[in-house]
Amino acid sequence: MRSGFFLALEGLDGAGKTTLAAGLKKSLVQKGYDPICLKEPTSGQYGQKIREITRLGRPESLSPEDELALFINDRAYDVENNINPALEGGKVVIIDRYIVSNLAYQGALGLPLDLILKANQDFPWPDLTLVLTIVPSEGLDRVRKRGDLQPAFERVDYLQSVKAVFDRLDALSLKNIFFIDAGKAARNLVREALLLINPLLPKPQS
Ligand code: TMP
Repeated sequence: MRSGFFLALEGLDGAGKTTLAAGLKKSLVQKGYDPICLKEPTSGQYGQKIREITRLGRPESLSPEDELALFINDRAYDVENNINPALEGGKVVIIDRYIVSNLAYQGALGLPLDLILKANQDFPWPDLTLVLTIVPSEGLDRVRKRGDLQPAFERVDYLQSVKAVFDRLDALSLKNIFFIDAGKAARNLVREALLLINPLLPKPQS
C-alpha cells in the first residue's frame, strides 16, 4: 500500500527544479523525513537512449509516437524499481520531471494530450505537482550559463511550444497541480513550495 508522499517538480529547462529539489530535501530532512530525489529520464536503458537523443539530436526516423514510447518505457521502469517501492516504504519522493513533462514536451510535438494521459494511466499520480513557470529565453540563459545545453530539446522555438502546452494544462483539470513563478531567489522558491507541501505531508516515520 502507498503510504509515502509523492511530489513532482515540473517546468521548462532552467526553471530551477534541481535546485528546488535539493532545497526541499534539506528542509524535509531537518523536519525528520528521509526523502529521496529521483529524476526522469532515468539512468535505465530507455533513459540512456533518451539522453543520447537529447544530446545528439532527434534522428529523422524517430516519430513523436516513438519518442513518447521511450519516455513511457522509462517511466514504467522508474515506477516499478524506484517510485512504488519508495512510496510503499513510506518515503517522501521528490521527482524532477514526470507525467506533466510528457504532456508538455511531447504535446509540443503535436501529440494529443488525451493520448499522452492515456499512455500514463497506470502510473501513480503525484500527491502534488509543482510547475515552475519561466519564459523560455530566461530558462535557456540559465542552462547556457551552466554549460549544459541539449540541442534537441533546448531550442527557444521548441520551448515556446512546450510553454504553450504548460499554459493550457488548466483545461485538463489535472489533480493536485500548482504553478509557481520561478523568477525569484531559490530560497524564496523553497519557502513558497513548502507552504503548499507542508499541509499535505504525512507525519515523519519514527
Ligand atoms: P532534463 O533536462 O531535465 O534532464 O530532461 C531532459 C529532457 O527530457 C528535457 O528537455 C525534457 C525532456 N522530457 C520529455 O520530453 N518528456 C518527458 O516525459 C520527460 C520526463 C522529460
